[in-house]
Amino acid sequence: MPGETRYNKGKQQSTIPLVDARLRRALATTTIESGKSMEKLWAGRTTGGNAALADEFNRSIAFDSRMAEQDITGSMAHAAMLGAVGIIPQASADAIIAGLEGILNDLRCGLIKIDPRAEDIHSFVEFELTRRIGEDGKKLHTARSRNDQVALDLRLYLRKDTAEVVSLVKSLIAAIADVAEAHAETIMPGYTHLQRAQPVTFGHWILAYAFMLSRDIARLNSAAGNMDLSPLGACAFAGTTYPIDRGMTAKALGFSGALPNSVDAVADRDFCVELAGALSILMTHLSRFSEEIILWTSWEFRFVELSDEFSTGSSIMPQKKNSDMAELVRGKAGRVYGDLITLLTMMKGLPLAYNKDLQEDKEAIFDALDTAKLCLSVFAPMLSTMTVHPENMRKAAAEGFINATDAADYLVKKGMPFRTAYKLTGQLVAQCIASRQTLESLPLSDYQALSELFEADIYEAVNLDLCAKSRTSEGGTSPESVRAQIRQLRENVIK
Ligand code: ARG
Repeated sequence: MPGETRYNKGKQQSTIPLVDARLRRALATTTIESGKSMEKLWAGRTTGGNAALADEFNRSIAFDSRMAEQDITGSMAHAAMLGAVGIIPQASADAIIAGLEGILNDLRCGLIKIDPRAEDIHSFVEFELTRRIGEDGKKLHTARSRNDQVALDLRLYLRKDTAEVVSLVKSLIAAIADVAEAHAETIMPGYTHLQRAQPVTFGHWILAYAFMLSRDIARLNSAAGNMDLSPLGACAFAGTTYPIDRGMTAKALGFSGALPNSVDAVADRDFCVELAGALSILMTHLSRFSEEIILWTSWEFRFVELSDEFSTGSSIMPQKKNSDMAELVRGKAGRVYGDLITLLTMMKGLPLAYNKDLQEDKEAIFDALDTAKLCLSVFAPMLSTMTVHPENMRKAAAEGFINATDAADYLVKKGMPFRTAYKLTGQLVAQCIASRQTLESLPLSDYQALSELFEADIYEAVNLDLCAKSRTSEGGTSPESVRAQIRQLRENVIK
C-alpha cells in the first residue's frame, strides 16, 4: 500500500503508516519477526505486555546500545558504593561487579551480542547480569533509577567521544599546517566579496581555518568540561532514603563531583545542546573550507586539484572530476544543525523532571558526533593529498589589480594623504584597464603624469611577491608571519 510500511508479526499482518525515518530504520534493524519482546524491568503495575508496535516505538536499544561500556562501568561503580556503605552485602556487590566484568569482556570480544528485543541498554545489562549471577543481580538497581543511569551513561559516552573529535580536529590542524608550511611563499589573490582584493600567501589563507578549528577545540573541551559532575544518585529525581555516597561514585567514574540538585541531574540535557552547538560551529568552519576547495578545484580557478583518491567522476560526462567529499562535508553541516535544532526543540516545552521525550536526545547527539567525526576523518587526507597549482594562483593574482592598495600606500609613504592617494590610484587602475596594462607594466611616464611622487621604486611597491612579503605585521600574510603562526599552532594547539 503506498505510503505505508508492512511488516510481519508472527502470522498476523500489521500495517503501520509511514512513520518517521528513525522508527523505520529501527524496524529494519531489529527483529520484530523474531518473536516476543523481552520481559520488562517495570512489569508489575502493568503486565508489561505491550502491543508489538508500542514496544518497537518505545524501545531505544537500537541506538543506546552504543553506551554499553559506559552503562556497565557506571553500574560497577554503583555496586561498589552500595557494598562499601552497606546498602547491599559486600558479597553481593562483589558478585555483581564480577558479573558485570564478565558481560563487558564478552561484549568486547564478541562472545555475546546485545539482544535487539531488549527495551534499552540498561534493561539488557540488568537482565543479562541476573541471568548469569541470579538473585544478587536483582540488587543492582537499589537506590538508582534509569533516569540517573541514562543521564550518567550519556555524559560518560559524550565525554569520551568529544575527546575523539578533539583529536581528529588536531589531526586536521596538523594537515593544514603542513600544507601552509609548504606554501608559505605561494602567492594567491586574497578575496573579499569573492573579488580579487589583495595578494596573500596560500599558507596564510588556509591557516585561517586552522585558527578557527583551534577555537572549536576550546568549545568542545568546554562542553565536555560542563559534563564534569555526576548525576548518579539523583535516582528518579528526588534522591533516595538510602545512605548513598554520591561523591564516591562520582570519583570512581572520573567526575570531579556530584551534581548538586537531583531534579536538574535527571531533567536537563543542556550538555547535549552545548556539544551540538560546538559541533555545529565546527561544521560551519569545515563547510566554508569545503566551499573554497570546491571553487578552487573548478576550471574557473584551477588553484588546486584533489587526488583521485578523494574525488569522483560523472557517470555521463567523461571529463568530470568532482569534489564530492568537500560537497558532502558542506551538505552534512546542515544535518548537524538539524541535530542541534532537534535537541533544542525537544527540550523547550518539557516540564520537570524526566520525560520520555528525553530519549530523543541520543540519536540527535550521536548523529552530530558521528557526522563530525566522519567529515574530519575525510578532510585531513583529502587536504594532504591535494595538489596545489601555484602558477594558476599567481596568474590570478597578477590579473586583478590586487596591488592597488600597495600603490596607494606608496604615495602615502611619500607624504600624500591616504584618501587622495586612494582616488589617484583608482584613476591609475582605470587607465590600465583602458590601455590593457597592469600596474607592473604601466610606463613610469604614465605614473608620473598623474603624480610627481612616483619614482622608479614604484615597481618594487607593486611587485606581488614584495607586496605579500612586506606584510610582516603580527598575524599578517608574509612568509615570516605565516611561519610564526604555524609555530604557534604546533606549540600551543596540536602538541
Ligand atoms: N531509554 C530511556 C532514555 O533514553 C532510559 C530512561 C528511561 N526512564 C524512564 N523513566 N522510562 O531516556
